Amino acid sequence: MTSVPGTPIIQTFGLSKRYRKTTAVDEISFRVEPGQVFGFLGPNGAGKTTTIGLLLGIITPTGGRFELFGGGSASDLHAARRRIGATLETPNFYPYLSGRDNLRIVANVKRRDAAEIERVLDLVGLGRRAKHKFKAYSLGMKQRLALAATMLGDPELIILDEPANGLDPEGMREIREIIRGLGERGKTIFLSSHLLSEVERTCTHVAIIQNGRIIRQDSVADVTSHGVAGLRSADLEALAAAVGEYPAALWSDRRGDRVVAELDDGDLAALNAWLGARGIHLSHMALEARSLEDVFMEATGAAEGVSAEVGPGDAGSGSHQLGEVR
Ligand SMILES: Nc1ncnc2c1ncn2[C@@H]1O[C@H](COP(=O)(O)OP(=O)(O)OP(=O)(O)O)[C@@H](O)[C@H]1O
Ligand SMILES: [Mg+2]
Repeated sequence: MTSVPGTPIIQTFGLSKRYRKTTAVDEISFRVEPGQVFGFLGPNGAGKTTTIGLLLGIITPTGGRFELFGGGSASDLHAARRRIGATLETPNFYPYLSGRDNLRIVANVKRRDAAEIERVLDLVGLGRRAKHKFKAYSLGMKQRLALAATMLGDPELIILDEPANGLDPEGMREIREIIRGLGERGKTIFLSSHLLSEVERTCTHVAIIQNGRIIRQDSVADVTSHGVAGLRSADLEALAAAVGEYPAALWSDRRGDRVVAELDDGDLAALNAWLGARGIHLSHMALEARSLEDVFMEATGAAEGVSAEVGPGDAGSGSHQLGEVR
């Protein structure tokens, strides 16, 4: 089976997985196009690993269906999986063997030659540490070795479950750069993460999943493009009331000594003129960048009817429930 131009690499149609008490994945539909670095973003227990397990054929769906490289029959999916490199968990590497020898074992199974082992070692920046024992590797190096093993066979689609999990900012940066590099070389990448900043910096596209449901999907640029206007004036009450009626304001909110609003058109001058015509003069006006976190807060707040509680968070952290590291 070859892929037809324009055919999505992954497409799901109401895909579901129900366990006796839990609906882990609840009728999700999304598509991943060729060359996208697609972030599957959600808090713990959202259904990310289950979705990946479904795509890889490790878990059997209880509803819906999906296609890989445009094919959805059992034999299509079987053939498609040979074109996928995936890490569901850190593979069982042998602690007393070197990184290179561990890759030799994987390469043997995948029938890959020695030159390719060196290629993937270089790709993840482990060339110079390849003869060191796995057990002496840092967590970041272990995760990079897993990525190297995934890249053996030069897969067209790379599926990674939380590739940056547990890493410090430096380790995360290394993984991010490897993934970005793969994306720049035209690979299609599907990665799950509970880290908003990671998805924001690494991915071109994102689907936000919570409680097994996709609550938003779009390009990262589109999701974050609308600026949030931050406004101040002498009479904050009057300002908040007026902004609440401004046609291009998708929503507005009073936050401390300012009023913030998301503008459909991002046109601050038009808002200023509109307020001026109503006798409201601003002492401060700025377009503030909206982060994926804002989007997540809004989307999950809307989905759940609450704004504060978006998921099982870090104990006591309050606002950064997804364990974000900047
Ligand atoms: N084998 C299973 N039997 C019953 N429930 C399961 C099973 N596997 C997963 N679940 C439940 O399904 C839901 C989704 O789990 P899943 O592991 O897919 O989430 P996740 O998004 O990967 O979370 P995490 O960020 O913690 O890895 C959870 O409520 C989980 O408890
Ligand atoms: Mg998981």
